[in-house]
Amino acid sequence: MTNSLWYKNAIFYELHIRSFADSNGDGKGDLLGIIPKLDYLKDLGVDCIWLLPMFGSPLKDDGYDISDYFNIHSDYGTVEDFQLLVKESHARGLRIITDLVLNHTSDQHPWFIESRKSKDNPYRDYYVWSDNNKKYEGVRIIFVDTEPSNWTYDETSGQYYWHRFYASQPDLNYDNPEVADKMLEVIRFWLDMGIDGFRADAVPYLFEREGTSCENLPETHDYLKRVRAMMNEHYPDAILLGEANMWPHELRPYFSGDPNNPAVPGDEFHLAFHFPVMPRIFKGLKLGRANDIINIMNDTPAIPYNCQWCVFLRNHDELTLEMVTEDDRQLMWQLYAPDPAMKLNLGIRRRLTPLLENDRRKIELANAILFSLPGAPIIYYGDEIGMGDNIALFDRNGVRTPMQWTGERGAGFSTADPSQFWAPLIDDAVYGYQHINVASQQHEANSLFNLMKHMVAVRKSLFVLGWGDCTFLQLDNETILAYHRHHESEHCFIICNLSDQSQTITLPLSEFAGRTPHDLLHDKSLAPVTTSEYTLTLAPYQYHWLAFK
Ligand code: NOJ
Repeated sequence: MTNSLWYKNAIFYELHIRSFADSNGDGKGDLLGIIPKLDYLKDLGVDCIWLLPMFGSPLKDDGYDISDYFNIHSDYGTVEDFQLLVKESHARGLRIITDLVLNHTSDQHPWFIESRKSKDNPYRDYYVWSDNNKKYEGVRIIFVDTEPSNWTYDETSGQYYWHRFYASQPDLNYDNPEVADKMLEVIRFWLDMGIDGFRADAVPYLFEREGTSCENLPETHDYLKRVRAMMNEHYPDAILLGEANMWPHELRPYFSGDPNNPAVPGDEFHLAFHFPVMPRIFKGLKLGRANDIINIMNDTPAIPYNCQWCVFLRNHDELTLEMVTEDDRQLMWQLYAPDPAMKLNLGIRRRLTPLLENDRRKIELANAILFSLPGAPIIYYGDEIGMGDNIALFDRNGVRTPMQWTGERGAGFSTADPSQFWAPLIDDAVYGYQHINVASQQHEANSLFNLMKHMVAVRKSLFVLGWGDCTFLQLDNETILAYHRHHESEHCFIICNLSDQSQTITLPLSEFAGRTPHDLLHDKSLAPVTTSEYTLTLAPYQYHWLAFK
């Protein structure tokens, strides 16, 4: 598969292996379970699968705590199973990327087991140690609900070690050239298996420097550029998708290139998640106001032509509210986390459909925005059928429950007794697998699944949505989110009513006088444009993707 800019107009699908499909009846999803589901993903229109961490791990952070970078977790299968999955994916034209956890290991990793033995252990310097817990003072804590400090005291060796996440995830010391080299070996090991790249976890935190926030440091960018240069040389089609939960101006350097000239190629990440726009979509939908979305997108700098944003509505974590103001965080909790159990750290641990009150109009609209904003969209497994969540489960497990394939006992996820499933199926009156499942939605013409499939197909047919510029329209109606995607002679107008009232608006379309706007998603023509004002009425939560005939 060659086309080194394939990711510009790609659809990504985030998949939790443990919850997707179980091939051996032990109640846990695995790699071989995914293979018979590849045709389903292909049918949905997915281009690239992102697998959550699958490596050796004590699972204190669901696999983001790695104890063996060169092996597959025994619950998930073997390296041979993985190679087969890659082969079968590629045979269907699907790409596949895995998580790459650079910042930290598990405390059960042999390096850390050695490192904590004594101050003079040869692996001591693989991690960040200090005699006191005052170093790097003021650096924010990410897991605020559980971690009182970024330092944890180690009784055995009498020093503190640094960790940005759980205490069971000590940060690696990238000032040690051996660490930096070893992680390049990890990268090459998996790329040699033919994978199409990585979703690089927690990248802002690789280096620490006194007097800074220890985030986004120049040294971190230098290391990431080194990774990219190696990939460019040996694996030119493979991508790096960066996870940096930052403001747009802090994200921009992760693409590198020339900030003033998008024609200069970037040489760091191919893609980066656009974190800040996500909560603003939810806020906009709740308040019926477009301004926050418009403002953050207008504050988003241009990126090199060979780079792309990655946009998402939900993922395997809490809906993060790190990139909003304190007032907005409180407001979002008020609006979307009425039960305190829904809150986690600085976010909300709920799935898309319950967040949007199972209102089909809002779910469609949110996706219509997701699939038309600048960036490659990611679908979080289960959201294509409107799966629910379970806030009674530990940590973020409530948004990671088993995939609902059928309405039969076990939901087609596993043949094990459901009481043995790693997490219970969603089984309530609204979101239970008996009502919400792939099999029934595949057969129902108006199902959410079929709508998503259609939206994906239309999106992929529109080069302008992957490559085009985006100009937000200034309308005198704050409930309407309207943007113009354009690339050379290709134009697409996205018009969304974020409110629960119908709205009549006037669009500035005079340059298209004599032409007929065509609603691409609903395959309907609207009244032709004339030289006078173009008036359009939208029902509550109605949206159009308009092109011209
Ligand atoms: C971000 C991942 O998305 C999250 O699930 C994980 O807990 C942290 N990074 C730490 O690796």
